[in-house]
Amino acid sequence: MEKREQMYEGKAKKVFATDNDDYCIVSYKDDATAFNGEKKGTILGKGVVNNRMSNFMFKLLETKGIPTDYVEELSDRETVLKKVNIVPLEVIIRNKAAGSFSKRFGIPEGTDFNEPTLEFCLKDDSLGDPMINESQIYAIGAATKEEIARISEYAYKINEVMVEFFKSVNVDLIDFKIEFGRFHGEILLADEISPDTCRFWDVNTQEKLDKDRFRRDMGGVEDAYAEMMKRVGLAD
Ligand code: TMP
Repeated sequence: MEKREQMYEGKAKKVFATDNDDYCIVSYKDDATAFNGEKKGTILGKGVVNNRMSNFMFKLLETKGIPTDYVEELSDRETVLKKVNIVPLEVIIRNKAAGSFSKRFGIPEGTDFNEPTLEFCLKDDSLGDPMINESQIYAIGAATKEEIARISEYAYKINEVMVEFFKSVNVDLIDFKIEFGRFHGEILLADEISPDTCRFWDVNTQEKLDKDRFRRDMGGVEDAYAEMMKRVGLAD
């Protein structure tokens, strides 16, 4: 496959066209942002961690029946993906209260839920990715009812697989954000699964091993990403 011109540059990744219209190449950067780009920085090695961990998770999820856009890892930072049209939704599953949920509902971080909870945000940086409900999603045509049913089913299944996997490496999966894409009429898991997009807490110490260390200026950011890489079994 031949890499062609850059199609897009996001906050954490660049996407390149290829000589095949069905495929693109993603390149992960070390750039980090938070609070809708207000806070900017660099997390050394993050691009490698996110590329390799995300590919690992997507491959695991494929074996559990979740279709994804993953095609082939080219290098530490670059991967071939199916070229999807992203459904403009951020799909968030939470197993315990944290972050914006704790803030919005006044429930302390770490509080257990009776069951995992699913929420949607509209992907629109200029609006700060506002929360949106299913009725509003249909009203504005962001996705169809069939697509939302499929996305919700996949999201809960992805949570089951990920909770079990991370528990096996002594990590509590507190919450995560995923995105989906349309590819020849099919819904595929897209974007990434990494310490940028999940909250990971050590099972024993509840130490944070994710991007909250950057968002909250806690220090030890690179070490947390490296530790997650090691736990997942991808450290050299
Ligand atoms: P929140 O508690 O800030 O809403 O975040 C929920 C989860 O989504 C958390 O695991 C971090 C992830 N997330 C992203 O991946 N991208 C974002 O832009 C935000 C705000 C959160």
